[in-house]
Formats: sequence, structure tokens, C-alpha cells
Amino acid sequence: MVTVGILTSSDAGYRGQRQDVSGQVIREMVEAKGFQVLRAEIVPDEQEMIADRLRRWSADVDLILTTGGTGLGQRDVTPEATRAVIEREVPGLPEAMRFVTAQKTPMAWLSRAAAGIRGRCLIINLPGSPKAVRECLEVVLPLIPHGLETLRGPTNVHPA
Ligand code: MTE
Repeated sequence: MVTVGILTSSDAGYRGQRQDVSGQVIREMVEAKGFQVLRAEIVPDEQEMIADRLRRWSADVDLILTTGGTGLGQRDVTPEATRAVIEREVPGLPEAMRFVTAQKTPMAWLSRAAAGIRGRCLIINLPGSPKAVRECLEVVLPLIPHGLETLRGPTNVHPA
């Protein structure tokens, strides 16, 4: 069983001025894979609030998927919040998202999404639009079960 947190960073969403369709798309896609969503929240594009949720949730869930705040806007700080809390980066996941989805949407290169590990939790940034979420999750979802299996594996793998 894979447990998931969905964190939406959006000033407009936080103020209730925009519906969180992207968070809903993530929920539908992970639940279709049999994952269980334990946390879901909308926060404004504030680095410290995003980092706080990532720190707290990483103790409780296997996987955190964020949506939004990965672009070049002055308030787009989700990758910075993510890098502030992760212990090891997993660059291949955002590289794959950008490379594969840029074949249909060159704008994909504008996402600064990051991914990494904090403790036993994998954190992956997704862009903000529902379309981008769908395209990017299709690329990385198939990789997640094996990634998490490795992450949960034995810690003492070196011979004495
Ligand atoms: N990636 C995919 N696959 N599909 C998209 O439509 N939109 C891009 C990019 N990544 C897009 C995408 C656009 S237009 C922007 S501005 C950036 O993601 C950043 O989006 P964000 O700031 O909402 O995270």
C-alpha cells in the first residue's frame, strides 16, 4: 500500500478564487493505481508554508505530490521549498517529465519542478495546470512503485 499527500500551491486556490482541479486529477490518478490519499491541502505560494507541510507530511506518507508554483513567476517557490527539505535529490523524475511531455508541449521546459527524498518519503513537484499534471503523472507514476520499494529497502546493505 502506497500512502500519498497532495499539496496544491496556489494563491488563488487558497483564497477560494479557483477550484483545485489539479489536486483532484492527482487524487483520481493515484487512487486508480490503488494508492491511498491520506493528506490533501491547498496552501498559498509561500515557501515556508509549503516546506512546513512537506516536513510534517514526510513522516506520515510514502509519497508527496505537489502541484503548482514551479514556473518562473515571482511567487513560484515550490521547487525552493522542496530543495530546502529534501536530503537527496531524484533529478531523473523531473527530467523525464520535461523531456517526455515536451514532445507535445514545448512549454514543459518552463517548469522548474524538482524531486527528492526526505527520510522514507519521495517528494515530486508537478506543474500547476490539470493538463500538465495529467501529462507529467503519466510519465512518473509507473516508476513510483519500484522507487518506493528501493527507498523502503534495508538500510544496512554494506558488508561488515
Ligand atoms: N508540462 C506539461 N507536461 N504540460 C503543460 O501544459 N505547462 C507549462 C509547464 N509544464 C505544461 C507543463 C507551463 S505553461 C508553465 S508556466 C510551467 O509548467 C510552470 O507551471 P506552474 O507554475 O503552474 O507550476
